[in-house]
Amino acid sequence: MKIISGEGSYFTDSSGKSYLDMSSQLMCCHLGYGNKNVINAIKKQAETLSYIGPSFDTDIRETVSEKLKSILPDNMVKYFYGTSGTEANEAAIKIARMYMADKKKNKIISFYNSYHGSTLGSLQLTGDFRRMLVDSYENASGFLRVAPQFCYHCPFKLKYPECNLACAENLEYTIKQEGNIAAVIFEPVTGTNGVVVPPDGFVKRLREITEENDVLLIADEVMTGFCRTGEWFAVNHWNVKPDIITTAKGITAAYAPLSLTAVDKKISDFFEDHIFAHGHTYEAHPLMLAAASAAIDEYKIMFLIM
Ligand SMILES: Cc1ncc(COP(=O)(O)O)c(C=O)c1O
Repeated sequence: MKIISGEGSYFTDSSGKSYLDMSSQLMCCHLGYGNKNVINAIKKQAETLSYIGPSFDTDIRETVSEKLKSILPDNMVKYFYGTSGTEANEAAIKIARMYMADKKKNKIISFYNSYHGSTLGSLQLTGDFRRMLVDSYENASGFLRVAPQFCYHCPFKLKYPECNLACAENLEYTIKQEGNIAAVIFEPVTGTNGVVVPPDGFVKRLREITEENDVLLIADEVMTGFCRTGEWFAVNHWNVKPDIITTAKGITAAYAPLSLTAVDKKISDFFEDHIFAHGHTYEAHPLMLAAASAAIDEYKIMFLIM
């Protein structure tokens, strides 16, 4: 099907037929199509400064960083801008491993019903079938998956709440047995593998377990970020503060490809005197940031109305 245009909540194909976009495409067109404020912000930025290498500071980078600071959980202090959720998670893997290198912790745990991206690293985080297509012993090293928090088909064949969150306890057992886990990554609400809201207490327990075992907690909010679950970020529902948050999609309401990897102060401090050897040509691209700035303003207005 060839799509010609989009307006509001509808997109139109080449025969003139319009469709109500019930899923906001890939759960990313949070503001619908044709939002004038976002479009004009991109145009204005294109006229002012369309591109500059990522090692330079820009007004738009400062503006977006300030706006993000006002909406992210308040422990998130330093931001890396990429162009996809996949890249955001790749950055998170490297950050976690570099931060934990002195402690010789390099393994990352994820959940079997997860999707975290399509490049080799993020695909190894991914628990679902997409990983298996390119899985091999070599590229699997340093990544482990565990049974998920999935009450509808509980992997332990237990019932909540009598299960006492066996899924979380299994995670803790795995962390202790492995001994060199750098981080756990999870989707606060599992997205492509079922839109699974975790049972009460799970996210809090996850935070406790990771803290007690000196393991970083990475919340993949690529799909759940930017008001998708009624909060700016899904972790807010449980008042949980991860060490790293990754997000993309809604950050620009899909008007431009942008992603974010945000870290807390201890990780930020670590990289004050350790080089983060990482980056992309289009990192912190001004046009993408202009879209994010305007999209965040639009969300803020929506929050005021609601
Ligand atoms: C939870 C989650 N993480 C990561 C990704 C990868 O994001 P992207 O497709 O922007 O690379 C997705 C994409 O659907 C996702 O839902």
